[in-house]
Amino acid sequence: MAAVRVLPFFLLLLLPSLSFSLSEYEALLKLKQSFTRADRLSSWLPDSSPCSAKWVGIICFNGTVTGLHLTGFDISGKIDIEALNALHGLRTISLVNNSFSGPIPDFHRVGALKSLLLTGNQFSGEIPKDFFAHITSLKKFWISYNQFNGTIPESVTQLSHLIELHLEHNHFSGPIPPMNIPTLKQLDLSNNKLEGEIPESLSIFSVDSFKGNEGLCGKPLDKVCMGDNKTNTNVPNQIPPEKKTNFVVVVVLGIAALVFIAFAFFTCKQRSEEEDNFGMLRREKVPDSVSVVEVHVPSSTSNRSNSRASETSRKGSSRKGSTHGKNGMSDLVMLNDDRGAFGLQDLMKAAAEVLGNGGLGSAYKAVMATGLSVVVKRLREMNRLQREGFDAEMRRFGRLRHRNILTPLAYHFRREEKLLVSEYIPKGSLLYVLHGDRGISHAELNWPIRLKIIQGMARGMGFLHTEFSSYELPHGNLKSSNVLLGDDYEPLLSDYGFHPLINTPNAVQSMFAYKSPEFVQYQEVSPKSDVYCLGIVILEILTGKFPSQYLSNGKGGIDVVQWVLTSMYERREDELIDPELLSYTNSRNQILQLLRIGAACTESNPEQRLDIREAIRKIEEVQI
Ligand SMILES: *[C@@H]1O[C@H](CO)[C@@H](O)[C@H](O)[C@H]1NC(C)=O
Ligand SMILES: *[C@@H]1O[C@H](CO)[C@@H](O)[C@H](O)[C@H]1NC(C)=O
Ligand SMILES: *[C@@H]1O[C@H](CO)[C@@H](O)[C@H](O)[C@H]1NC(C)=O
Ligand SMILES: *[C@@H]1O[C@H](CO)[C@@H](O)[C@H](O)[C@H]1NC(C)=O
Repeated sequence: MAAVRVLPFFLLLLLPSLSFSLSEYEALLKLKQSFTRADRLSSWLPDSSPCSAKWVGIICFNGTVTGLHLTGFDISGKIDIEALNALHGLRTISLVNNSFSGPIPDFHRVGALKSLLLTGNQFSGEIPKDFFAHITSLKKFWISYNQFNGTIPESVTQLSHLIELHLEHNHFSGPIPPMNIPTLKQLDLSNNKLEGEIPESLSIFSVDSFKGNEGLCGKPLDKVCMGDNKTNTNVPNQIPPEKKTNFVVVVVLGIAALVFIAFAFFTCKQRSEEEDNFGMLRREKVPDSVSVVEVHVPSSTSNRSNSRASETSRKGSSRKGSTHGKNGMSDLVMLNDDRGAFGLQDLMKAAAEVLGNGGLGSAYKAVMATGLSVVVKRLREMNRLQREGFDAEMRRFGRLRHRNILTPLAYHFRREEKLLVSEYIPKGSLLYVLHGDRGISHAELNWPIRLKIIQGMARGMGFLHTEFSSYELPHGNLKSSNVLLGDDYEPLLSDYGFHPLINTPNAVQSMFAYKSPEFVQYQEVSPKSDVYCLGIVILEILTGKFPSQYLSNGKGGIDVVQWVLTSMYERREDELIDPELLSYTNSRNQILQLLRIGAACTESNPEQRLDIREAIRKIEEVQI
């Protein structure tokens, strides 16, 4: 888990939205998949953190990926721009000296790039006319030693921060656009097929910047421009001055409008929070000069944070008025005080760090003054139910008691902010233990432990399918990252039962049951979709491989379903078993028996798939 700077929890809540569709490691793995040769990226492993595990070629700042520097890695294939786009902190890209080819990828869709270095590849074709219009943040742009042709797009003149421009050794033709960029320090246009007059603003550069272009004339070259000036591009007036002004005015007005909206939003938010009696927001300077916003919870509300009272008062009065109370304070509602009671104010003062950004929102770890560590999930997508419905679902969660189910401790509901608080489980998720940290911890998962995990998961699923038997998806999001491991490796299922809370489009994006074959093919889900998810985790546990099914484009990891089918058909089942388990020769038959159950759970036709009861019965029959 990424070691991110620890901050008070309320500060994390005030950070700008952290909900990405892809986490950084998923995005980078997706990118790696789009490469056809990427031998040197073997340190890019599922569920390790690109920053703390120091993935090769990845530059981080403050725990966020800021640079992708893959110079001379001999990589070819495609560049998945969608994946790059998910790296919100990305500022510099170097793919110098690789073997990429084809047209220039849509780098202009990647926000706020400062440096884009593509020198020494086989990119070809023309640069789209408006390419630069969308990456005006660029300071360095190198595409030398490629096969680009066509003209240099006029939009290059809009790069007002540009410092280095290297276009040498390509096949650019036509005139040089009238660049007048005061910041420009390095310019190399040599060895192309450019023609016409060199714009006066560029005459300060040396002859070397322009050599090897037979058609160029004007300073600094010795060649004077002669005769028909049509090919010349002494056209500084191509953008009429009024238009320029308009553009600036529009930008300035736009910025002003944004500032105004942001200001209005902030004041508005502040006011509504005051009305909520959430407390005053006050800016303060702290020693390390980080600007901090502090939340003060008035003492009148702090009594209420003694959960029991707040729970009963809430239960007792379900009318709309009461949920915002006389004080209007919407506090934490305790669901389960097995770990003691706490209030929103305790949580806000806790030391917190970002754990990650899952499909359902961001997750934070918070350590409260009492020493209790909790995981707080911000449920971004759960807007299907109004307050009363939401409360009812949460109370159902709070009543669940099963040794393989993680019962949430508390929740917080406001229309614009929903938090679900659960106990922090130190060992982490099955995903992490199985694939994290270069498999160091992988070995500790011996056969008896893996069987215990699978049987515990099955029991937890059986319990959920009884408790939520009326739901289309009693769990809905079973995958190894939602199976936590207790100290004794007893598995604890989390993130279950969200189906009624989420609107379908968001559910499709974020819940793993929607990756089942019946949904992909027929847009249908049923309790058997949960069986499919269970089957994937069983195959993942026994093979030790990261299932490609977890990644949104199915690329990356291993298609465990297909692999198991093929190997079983070809009677090469032994190759499926995680090498760490091969020493359990006496248990080979049991392991294979369980692999077959996993295969039967992932049967693509739900009619032929085991149902949850059969699956559990068969899993329980397996002996150590
Ligand atoms: C580092 O990250 C934290 C939160 O992730 C943020 O609050 C802080 O401003 C960042 N520091 C810098 C110097 O960017
Ligand atoms: C790229 O390769 C060329 C030719 O082999 C070499 O001269 C140059 O230094 C390399 N560039 C980088 C940044 O490694
Ligand atoms: C640029 O090269 C491509 C082939 O890579 C060719 O199809 C296209 O016509 C060329 N364009 C110009 C303007 O030369
Ligand atoms: C072409 O341009 C050059 C330099 O701008 C100028 O001196 C010359 O008179 C022009 N020739 C014609 C035919 O317009």
